Amino acid sequence: MKTFSSSLEFSHFPVMLGEVIQLSSPSEGGHYIDCTFGGGGYSKALLKFPKTKVTALDRDVNVIGVANKFEKKFQKRFEFYKIKFSQINSVLKDQVDTVIFDLGLSSIQLNNLKRGFSFKSKDKLDMTMGLSDISAQDAINKLSESQLKLIIKELGEEKDAFKIAKNIVKARSEKKITRVDELVSIIEKSKKKNYSTKINPSTKTFQALRIFVNKEITELMNGVVNATKILKPGGKILIISFHSIEDKIIKYFFSNFSKGKAKPSRYLPDENYDKSALFEKYINKIIKPSKKEIEENNPSRSAKLRIATRSQNKFVHPSSFFQKFKRYLEIEGINV
Ligand SMILES: C[S@@+](CC[C@H](N)C(=O)[O-])C[C@H]1O[C@@H](n2cnc3c(N)ncnc32)[C@H](O)[C@@H]1O
Repeated sequence: MKTFSSSLEFSHFPVMLGEVIQLSSPSEGGHYIDCTFGGGGYSKALLKFPKTKVTALDRDVNVIGVANKFEKKFQKRFEFYKIKFSQINSVLKDQVDTVIFDLGLSSIQLNNLKRGFSFKSKDKLDMTMGLSDISAQDAINKLSESQLKLIIKELGEEKDAFKIAKNIVKARSEKKITRVDELVSIIEKSKKKNYSTKINPSTKTFQALRIFVNKEITELMNGVVNATKILKPGGKILIISFHSIEDKIIKYFFSNFSKGKAKPSRYLPDENYDKSALFEKYINKIIKPSKKEIEENNPSRSAKLRIATRSQNKFVHPSSFFQKFKRYLEIEGINV
């Protein structure tokens, strides 16, 4: 019989596992950081190589059961921390070989209707991944109409944000909105039926709320910068993202702070760019799941994998990266 933790372990299908393992060359050994442990798919595959050491992180308390099992089985080679990955360098002081981020939600989180991530849920509007200060219910009931509109438009890229925000405020003036199905019905009433798409009308609003509640852009930006700080020269950073905002941010970070392109300060003479680049020359290449993988695991269809190699240069804080995406950071910083 499957135990609770082993059923959790196997209920998430790790996206592009073969590609992640091949690109991170574990047969040679090394210290790997699995920033998004989830069901433990990547950690497990990396630990099959006897010379590897894995440090795993996750903000979700529910993964601890699986992580404890790994800790028992691989006592000297595996450790787990329940922290947000932006805090990566609070637990890792030495330089590491490879850092992996598999962003977003696991199917374990999505399929647990009590957590409120799924449109099918009739439960509480929660949407917290763990270590979050607010829930979606707080956001929906406490933010002003213009703040809601801004969040839904910018973080969800939802063109009907204005109507949705207006109808949320109207509905909550009659009764507090507490359940997922109440929000779904408000969104459906706010949007024209589009028969040419299979995409659920709530997709973009749910994406916006989830990003806002969990401060996902702030996490991503600080996570990748702090990971770069602890990478060895020649070390690799692999990121799998699932929506265009994430991919835009990763692409900018990798390509603008790489040799051949980077110019962190406009006062630096041209020949000095490369001397301060955080990464080796970046080949702007996206790796996508195979047709077969998409057929077997539909949620992988929007996954994009990017990889960069740390240069030998000293770490210089990439302040222009934070400047570039300041608007998202300000939106996530709205007080509830
Ligand atoms: C897509 S799943 C990872 C699945 C994993 N690769 C596997 O093979 O099972 C993403 C996981 O990352 C976690 N996560 C998302 N954002 C995080 C953050 N900022 N800090 C730490 N964990 C995070 C989520 O709680 C979730 O468990």
